Amino acid sequence: MTATHGHDGAARLIEAARQARLHAHAPFSKFRVGAALETADGTIVTGCNIENATYGLTLCAERVAMFKAVSEGHREFRRIAVVADTSSPTSPCGPCRQILWEFAGDIEVILANLSTETGRHHMHHLLPVPFDARLLGEDPARK
Ligand code: THU
Repeated sequence: MTATHGHDGAARLIEAARQARLHAHAPFSKFRVGAALETADGTIVTGCNIENATYGLTLCAERVAMFKAVSEGHREFRRIAVVADTSSPTSPCGPCRQILWEFAGDIEVILANLSTETGRHHMHHLLPVPFDARLLGEDPARK
């Protein structure tokens, strides 16, 4: 079966992201986002955006989900669903792409709104030519 349609469990992951979105703390932007990360063993770890009065300390839903998962011992991931109430796909911001890449590599990113799926991408498409730990290991000055 292709990953693009039907009974691959994506509906369950999207629903988990929709539920997580309901916990968003977004009094400043009023823009609520939910994320649901599926680990290699099938566990679903969710996150929502958590804003802060300083604005700059705001955490996106994707990062909350990933840091929750890492803090609970998960290190291998299959895919993440991201949900916002927009007709165009709400896709992870630049810093979240970096975090997702570093911990999860080339996972699938499933985008959805409150009623439908709006897109699927792999991380290498969202973050081509990434900076990551491989490059740190190549620097002769560090050897
Ligand atoms: N936000 C996310 O949580 N994830 C995204 O993919 C896009 C942006 C949050 C951050 C902030 O709380 C609000 O959405 C508006 O930018």
